[in-house]
Amino acid sequence: MNEIQSSNCCSDCGNDQLEQIANVIDLYQAKPSNLIQILHASQQIYGYLPLDVQEFIAQKMNISVSEVSGVVTFYSFFSTKPRGEHTILVCMGTACYVRGGKKLVEGLQKILGINLGETTQDGKFTLEIARCIGACGLAPAMMIDKVVYKSVNPNKLESILSKY
Ligand code: FES
Repeated sequence: MNEIQSSNCCSDCGNDQLEQIANVIDLYQAKPSNLIQILHASQQIYGYLPLDVQEFIAQKMNISVSEVSGVVTFYSFFSTKPRGEHTILVCMGTACYVRGGKKLVEGLQKILGINLGETTQDGKFTLEIARCIGACGLAPAMMIDKVVYKSVNPNKLESILSKY
């Protein structure tokens, strides 16, 4: 494995951010049992966890990259791609699905020009689906960041997005 130093990890990696990640690893004493917490903190610092950052963490913790990647890919809250400024979660739980959740996804895909799991080119929105966001009585529902939108119909999407 190539030696990755915080000063030359890759052209995309901010050295400051890698230094902060290295500090987090030190704080957690590089213990493999703390890997999830370290990855959480690293994602907060870097925004997402690309392979270069995973390699950096693995090297600093003296564990294999596959061990790190295994955890990153297992948990849906870790992302290997840059995320948008705002995350749109369309509920696909049973109530929302039955009452038009799929149409919301299709409408958003059309307006934003992206597929599920993708981020708009301007880096503003990431589009994802969720299981149930606790608004079943007013389905279909969606969330943008922490704001829940209930009884959404596709005609309302443009005006909802324009708030961001
Ligand atoms: S099923 Fe969509 S909010 Fe519960």
